Amino acid sequence: MSLTGVRIAGVGHYAPERVVTNEDFAGWLDTSDEWIVSRTGMKRRHWVAPGEATSDLAVAAGRKALAHAGLDASDIDCFIVATVTPDYSFPATGCIVASRLGGVDKPGFDINIACSGFIYGLTTASALIRGGVYKRILLIGAETLTSITNYEDRGSAILFGDGAGAVVLEASEKDSFLSSELGSDGSRPELLFVEAGGSRNPIDAEKLAERKNFLSMQGREVFKFAVTKMIAATDVALQKANLTRDDLNLLIPHQANKRIVDAAAKYLNMGPDRVVINIHEYGNTSAASIPIALSEAVAAGRVHDDDVIVFVAFGGGLSWGAVTWRWSA
Ligand code: ACO
Repeated sequence: MSLTGVRIAGVGHYAPERVVTNEDFAGWLDTSDEWIVSRTGMKRRHWVAPGEATSDLAVAAGRKALAHAGLDASDIDCFIVATVTPDYSFPATGCIVASRLGGVDKPGFDINIACSGFIYGLTTASALIRGGVYKRILLIGAETLTSITNYEDRGSAILFGDGAGAVVLEASEKDSFLSSELGSDGSRPELLFVEAGGSRNPIDAEKLAERKNFLSMQGREVFKFAVTKMIAATDVALQKANLTRDDLNLLIPHQANKRIVDAAAKYLNMGPDRVVINIHEYGNTSAASIPIALSEAVAAGRVHDDDVIVFVAFGGGLSWGAVTWRWSA
């Protein structure tokens, strides 16, 4: 039996206990439940407790995915965490997660490409497995976006939540990976970035006072880019797999804004039964959003053997990506 393909053997997700509703923001921001629901589709999001960090969420989701796959951390050859909110600038959160799960001496690393993180991670991990480098990889999208949220900015503060989603990828006779389409345009980082804290603008008192250590975004520009790129990436990924929109059973998009997902789904001619949306519960959890949505879709019985799925995302970079996947139960 030749194991030259890859499949997802287990999924899991975790969200912190604390739930923050739209009404909660009205206590300190000039906003309302009506505005947030109508402009974003969000109702609730989960926030970490003080002291809870990205690796805590990643470990919880990773444990669930391992249990779902019937495996132990010692069965995993490599641990990858997609995140823009690592525990530290370094060491990589992937190293911390590997150790905490019990992956002794195993490689661990991070992928930092914002909301496209899971798509880049799925492409990387699939290539490592299909190329014969590793047999099993635990890929986790995990974010504590509240650690970089500017709570004085009503245009972005309401959008973000914390959480983690994980998949166990393993070598397989049948190949689930059909295609990948990735892209980026780094010519205008200011569209969506944390300005200070890196080598370009190290943190100092002035930057802290100006809240430049928090995420800032030009929402309208990002919105337009998002709709265009989600549609284009989905179409190209399908073409690369020699498939058409009609072949697509399920679209699992990054959960950034329900209006973005609805616009893309409408253009792609995908009805609600073929699109996974859970943004009302989690808000935007960046690299965690797609694996959380997949984990919930599997638990809800929405994913069947042989289904064609497109995972698609956009985010900081700016970046975008889509993967076509044939589900293998
Ligand atoms: N409550 C009430 N009013 C608000 C709020 C709020 N929370 N936020 C903005 N407004 C106001 C604005 O001030 C503006 O008022 P004005 O017309 O008087 O100036 C008005 O609402 C419209 O503002 P817009 O920014 O044009 O609103 P828009 O419909 O574009 O929605 C949003 C804003 C939700 C941010 C949208 O642009 C969006 O979703 N963009 C994409 C965001 C995204 O996906 N980012 C990914 C980042 S994740 C990552 O990379 C980690």
